[in-house]
Amino acid sequence: NAQASYDFSSNDPYPYPRYTDDWFNSHGTRCAGEVSAAANNNICGVGVAYNSKVAGIRMLDQPFMTDIIEASSISHMPQVIDIYSASWGPTDNGKTVDGPRELTLQAMADGVNKGRGGKGSIYVWASGDGGSYDDCNCDGYASSMWTISINSAINDGRTALYDESCSSTLASTFSNGRKRNPEAGVATTDLYGNCTLRHSGTSAAAPEAAGVFALALEANVDLTWRDMQHLTVLTSKRNQLHDEVHQWRRNGVGLEFNHLFGYGVLDAGAMVKMAKDWKTVPERFHCVGGSIQEPRKIPSNGKLVLTLTTDACEGKENFVRYLEHVQAVITVNSTRRGDLNINMTSPMGTKSILLSRRPRDDDSKVGFDKWPFMTTHSWGEDPRGTWVLEVGFVGIMPQKGVLKEWTLMLHGTQSAPYIDQIVKDYQSKLAMSKKEELEEELDEAVERSLKSIFSKN
Ligand SMILES: *[C@@H]1O[C@H](CO)[C@@H](O)[C@H](O)[C@H]1NC(C)=O
Ligand SMILES: *[C@@H]1O[C@H](CO)[C@@H](O)[C@H](O)[C@H]1NC(C)=O
Ligand SMILES: *[C@@H]1O[C@H](CO)[C@@H](O)[C@H](O)[C@H]1NC(C)=O
Repeated sequence: NAQASYDFSSNDPYPYPRYTDDWFNSHGTRCAGEVSAAANNNICGVGVAYNSKVAGIRMLDQPFMTDIIEASSISHMPQVIDIYSASWGPTDNGKTVDGPRELTLQAMADGVNKGRGGKGSIYVWASGDGGSYDDCNCDGYASSMWTISINSAINDGRTALYDESCSSTLASTFSNGRKRNPEAGVATTDLYGNCTLRHSGTSAAAPEAAGVFALALEANVDLTWRDMQHLTVLTSKRNQLHDEVHQWRRNGVGLEFNHLFGYGVLDAGAMVKMAKDWKTVPERFHCVGGSIQEPRKIPSNGKLVLTLTTDACEGKENFVRYLEHVQAVITVNSTRRGDLNINMTSPMGTKSILLSRRPRDDDSKVGFDKWPFMTTHSWGEDPRGTWVLEVGFVGIMPQKGVLKEWTLMLHGTQSAPYIDQIVKDYQSKLAMSKKEELEEELDEAVERSLKSIFSKN
């Protein structure tokens, strides 16, 4: 879509890639092909959403990056562009903590509130390629509530070696495998009319998700940005994905998730099917669940454990009964930021790892300043009750630190009929089944109850 395209790197309407010897500028062309390459093109592959149109926004190809270039890029023609697929973010060097600045934050907020005629722009974000030494909750773009952040799985179901993990990742798609062989890469369009079999990284994962979301919009143009997240949570699958480090677990309403893959691999068929009959989710509310602001020392051995008991604003207009995103806004300093480890457990017992060890991050000055750590793992849960925050050090040398703020931000709805049904089925299954049988049956139960709910609508 030439009309919706723009070049913010050189301020003109023609986002042509500049030739470089390392083919650095092939990135956008490769991502675009994954989404929109024509069906039966006889050159290479097919776009996930081959009826879609793609607009090119060139914005990374200058020696500096500014807030205004980012903001302009993600708010370019929000009534024409439905989905923004972003395979970029702060440096993945395992020691950066960075996120959107003022203008870009405002652009994202405007996008979800006003884009697409008020249904909200869909922002798809690559969770980052920093590997196990990085944590995508330190990337404020990927961990934003307004973006759907996507991690990679590889062809044999394992994690990619470049995968970062964090509690804000919503789902995964497939990207290149561990071996550098042609079959293990992603096939897509390349520069100069060519084709590549080697597109890679979470950069290649996010556009696949953008394609799947385009299919969902093709099936139901009324989906809001939050509907898209609900559909992702409900239809993504564990399948054969396996994570050597983090177990798959079920949250308080029975939804299965993993710290690395989110709710699993996207299932385009299931998502489109559910999208067709989907009823827009109810209004969203925001409640400050509580806040601790007195400085508390983090012990060098052992850990600091804090609790907050909340009624989730019950009785007030902004009561949140069914969670979507949860943010823990944290201010903390320490003699070594990379050795900090932070977990948070919901009243229904779901533990989110908000921050893992980052061995390369030796910051001792900045720490985290009102940083919004986000988790999607308590999706659908009842937030009322006691939340537990655990902060400790996991490095080799003893460290010191002070936690100065923990504010619990709850976001979600007051009604969500489908969740009640899932919980009921989950609990009756729990009561009836033996533990081994349970695992196999639960997915079916959730799926059956969803089916019956949607066939009623
Ligand atoms: C396109 O692909 C062909 C065949 O692999 C190759 O010979 C050619 O050099 C490529 N063109 C460019 C511009 O890289
Ligand atoms: C952290 O903050 C406390 C209280 O403000 C201060 O005493 C301490 O020196 C700080 N530690 C680091 C590592 O900056
Ligand atoms: C956080 O959870 C992880 C995984 O269960 C665990 O290994 C770690 O010790 C926990 N850290 C703290 C500070 O509780």
